[in-house]
Amino acid sequence: MAARGEVASADRPHPVPPPRSDPITPRPHHPTSSLPRFETALTRLLGIETPIVQAPVGGASTPELAAAVSNAGGLGCLSITWREPSGLPALLRRTWALTERPVAVNLVLAWDPAERLEIALAEGFRVVSFFWGDPAPWIGRVHAAGGLVMHTVASAEEAARAVAAGVDIVVAQGWEAGGHVWGEVSTLALIPRVVDAVAPAGVPVVAAGGIADGRGMAAALALGASGVWMGTRFLLAEESAAHPVYQERLLAAAETETRHTLLFDGGWEGAPLRALANETFVAWEAAGKPPHSGRPGEGETIATGEDGRAIPRYDSGSPVVGASGDVVAMCLYAGQGVGLVDRRQPAAEIVQEVAAEAAAALRGALPIG
Ligand SMILES: Cc1cc2nc3c(=O)[nH]c(=O)nc-3n(C[C@H](O)[C@H](O)[C@H](O)COP(=O)(O)O)c2cc1C
Repeated sequence: MAARGEVASADRPHPVPPPRSDPITPRPHHPTSSLPRFETALTRLLGIETPIVQAPVGGASTPELAAAVSNAGGLGCLSITWREPSGLPALLRRTWALTERPVAVNLVLAWDPAERLEIALAEGFRVVSFFWGDPAPWIGRVHAAGGLVMHTVASAEEAARAVAAGVDIVVAQGWEAGGHVWGEVSTLALIPRVVDAVAPAGVPVVAAGGIADGRGMAAALALGASGVWMGTRFLLAEESAAHPVYQERLLAAAETETRHTLLFDGGWEGAPLRALANETFVAWEAAGKPPHSGRPGEGETIATGEDGRAIPRYDSGSPVVGASGDVVAMCLYAGQGVGLVDRRQPAAEIVQEVAAEAAAALRGALPIG
C-alpha cells in the first residue's frame, strides 16, 4: 500500500522525469482551486500543484506549518536534524494527521543523519532533503524506500556531481539566503548556471535565497528554475514557531540589515550564516570584531530555550515559541529578502499570494518585439 504523502512518480527508486519543458506562463485556472497553475518539472515529479517549497527553518518548521503549505498545494518541509530521535515519531505522525499530501524532511549532513533518516522513512516520509555535505552515502537508502532526494548546492559543478550521484531534485541556494549559507554566489547568477548544468538531464532546479514574493518567484522561473524555496517569508507564517519577538524584528528589518557572518557559532563552528545585525552582532562589531575567546559577553547565558536549555551568547540556535530571556540577542536568521516581508499571515495565504503575484508578474512582463 502506498505510504501517506507518497510522491507522484511511479518509476522509483530513481525516477527519470520526462524532458523538461517548463512553461513559465502560468495557466490561468486550476480545476480545484483559485491558484494559478504552474506546471513544472518539480510539480510533476512531486505531484504537487504549485512549485513553492517551504524551506526547513530549524525549530520554526512545525508540523502545522509544513502541513499547511502542502495542503495549499506547495511542499512543506520539516527540519529534523536537531530533534531528539525519541520524540521524532510523534512529531512526524502529527504531520500526517494534518495532511495526506507529500511533505519533506530535511537533514543537515554536518550531523550523522542515519538514525533520523530511518525514523522518517519508517514514518512514511518519501521526500528527503539534504544540506551541508555529501549526500551520496544516503541516496541509495532513500531510493530503496521509494523516495526522492533533494540536495542543496551552491555551484554548477556541485549540482552536476549531485545529479551524477543520483540526486532527484537540486536546490540551488544563493548567498542572499537566511540561515546557514553554503556558497558565495548570488541567486541571480547561480540559478541559470545550475539550470544549464542539470536541467537538460530532466532534473528540476529549485531556487533558494532572497526570494520572498511573487516577483522573486517569477524571476526564478524566468531563470529556468522549476520552483522556489523560501525560508524567511515562511518564518512569518502564523503556523511558524519563530518566537514572536524574532518575528517583530523580521517585520521591522530592511534589506540592508542582515549580515553574512561566522559569529553565531555555538554548537556549529565555522559555518557561515546570514542573520539580522542584532545587539549581539553590533556589540561585537563595536568591540573591533575580536576573535572567539575575546568576544563581548562570551560564555554568558542570555536566554532559556523552549526545552529549558541555557542559551549562551553566540549560540547558533534561533528563538522559538517558549524561549525566554534576552531572545533578541540570540541568532536571528534572516535572508536579504527580509525587507519584503511585512506581515504575519497563514501559510496557505503565503502560497496563494506568492503564486498569484508571480502569475501577474509573468503576465505583465514587457511585450518584446
Ligand atoms: C531560521 C532558519 C533556519 C534554517 N534551517 C535550515 C535547516 O535546518 N536545513 C536547511 O537545509 N536549511 C536551513 N535554512 C536555510 C533554508 O533552507 C534556505 O536555504 C533559506 O531560508 C533560503 O533563503 P531565504 O531565507 O532568503 O528564503 C534555514 C534558514 C532559516 C532562515
